[in-house]
Amino acid sequence: MKKLTVKDIRHMKGMEKISMLTAYDAPMASLLDGQGVTALLVGDSLGMVILGYDSTVPVTMEQMLHHAGAVSRGTKSAVVVGDMPFGSYQVSVEQAVENGVRFLKEAGCDCVKLEGGVEVTDAVRGLVRAGVPVMGHLGLTPQTAGQLGGFKVQGKDMDAARKLIADARALEAAGAFAIVLECVPGPLAEVVTQAIGIPTIGIGAGAGCDGQVLVTNDMLGLFERFTPGFVKKYMNLAPEIKEAVQSFLNEVAHQEFPAEEHTFASEKDFHSLLDE
Ligand code: KIV
Repeated sequence: MKKLTVKDIRHMKGMEKISMLTAYDAPMASLLDGQGVTALLVGDSLGMVILGYDSTVPVTMEQMLHHAGAVSRGTKSAVVVGDMPFGSYQVSVEQAVENGVRFLKEAGCDCVKLEGGVEVTDAVRGLVRAGVPVMGHLGLTPQTAGQLGGFKVQGKDMDAARKLIADARALEAAGAFAIVLECVPGPLAEVVTQAIGIPTIGIGAGAGCDGQVLVTNDMLGLFERFTPGFVKKYMNLAPEIKEAVQSFLNEVAHQEFPAEEHTFASEKDFHSLLDE
């Protein structure tokens, strides 16, 4: 299986659709990678999906690197994207570059993703100059969802749409190789996609983007706390897991598990040891 690069993703625009899924550990990364997904995003959604936080804000660099390393070790082909957590790139360009470099050096990622438009272009430029490829993230940016009025569709009026296009162009000019568009009206995402020369990867942004990304735990029906309206559940694993666990509990209670085939046999009679 050929290892894909950010250059491959860049060249897929207008040629073939890009697929991206989140991963947080090696076995899931290996499963998804084996199916031919273009990119694996170690999203800071880690905080909500895996670590039990209410938002992505508390996620730390150390937590991201821990999980990103596992994903890289489970991946042969897909581009591994390390999501820069809140507070890891906003303080200064130096801080952004130092942390971005850590994703490549310590976690084996191929590139990083960060949220924001014009206001993060200095950081994007610094990272790209340092050899860290950057994926942008516009529209609903969960790290600053509070400022945006919550988890809502973005770019609904002409001014907001104009700003989104300007932000996308600024990210491209700063050297980003692709941009995630989250929770944006489909027709606007289509226009943003036409306005820039780098690929857009949509989540809740319609079919007009150059690619699509979903949180794997959402699309597998594993995350039960809430499901955003734009998610398609390709499976509903949570009820199946509950059913399996109920079967285990019943079989343990009724001494049906373990059966003979799950038990290591021996010719010896160990009961005599009780009298020693
Ligand atoms: O953290 C994440 O999983 C993301 C996706 C929602 C794009 O940023």
